[in-house]
Amino acid sequence: MRIFRKSDDLMEFLRLNHVDGLKLGFVPTMGALHAGHISLVSRSMEQNELTICSIFVNPTQFNNPEDLAKYPVTIEKDIDMLEASGCQLLFLPDPSQIYPAGYQARHYDLGYLETILEGKYRPGHFQGVCQVVDRLLSIVNPDILYLGRKDYQQCMVIARMLTLTGRNITLDFVETMREPNGLAMSSRNVRLNESDRVRAIQIYRSLQWLKKNVKPGNLSPLKAEAVQQLTDHGFEVDYVEIASAESLSITEVWDGREPLVALAAAFCGPVRLIDNVTIS
Ligand code: PAF
Repeated sequence: MRIFRKSDDLMEFLRLNHVDGLKLGFVPTMGALHAGHISLVSRSMEQNELTICSIFVNPTQFNNPEDLAKYPVTIEKDIDMLEASGCQLLFLPDPSQIYPAGYQARHYDLGYLETILEGKYRPGHFQGVCQVVDRLLSIVNPDILYLGRKDYQQCMVIARMLTLTGRNITLDFVETMREPNGLAMSSRNVRLNESDRVRAIQIYRSLQWLKKNVKPGNLSPLKAEAVQQLTDHGFEVDYVEIASAESLSITEVWDGREPLVALAAAFCGPVRLIDNVTIS
């Protein structure tokens, strides 16, 4: 695997290889890789001649400095995992490569998407995500961008950012990988202690419970019950919501036909976890 630390070197390499008409798949990450990330890499490798992964812990998407300081960094292990997966290229920039002197942060008009769920609880987060992904895309210019469905709202935000910027890049959203007990794989899971790791499964259980019990009509009592389940298990809940799977507009009363997604964010001890389950 070739590792690039400088944007110019990577752009020059990609320019030369694109001359040969190779199809390029891109998996952006913040490192602390797990099997979920590797499933994105594997998918890209099936669909493209060249696959590039990036590892960059993007400071502009952390609304909480403590969260940034505690974000797990496991570069050596990440490189080993990527090597073993067969990934051909890794972009490992430092902040000066992503936000060089004179970089002007633009504002992305994300509308409603930025005011709900993660947007509501993490102000500024999605502007930071758009900044970094937009910048990475300008360097990598891939044919296909791979994103994990665990960050359901992020997938929709990035789709909107591509429309706003007019980038002609195909998006591929990849299913969430789960531990055998159902816990969604996440880089943040390494920060869970042994008992919290077991307790954390309740988020998926409550989402599955919502899926099983949802009926046409008013959804508020069901959501309230799911919040209660998590609270009873010691979580501090930011939200449990049911929304349109397509627009993410919050569904208060369900017509029984619209495809839905149930989403949750809650603190398990000091670690904030998110997950979602589609309901169709
Ligand atoms: O999902 C993530 O890991 C990050 O938000 C991303 C897309 C790599 C941007 O920093």
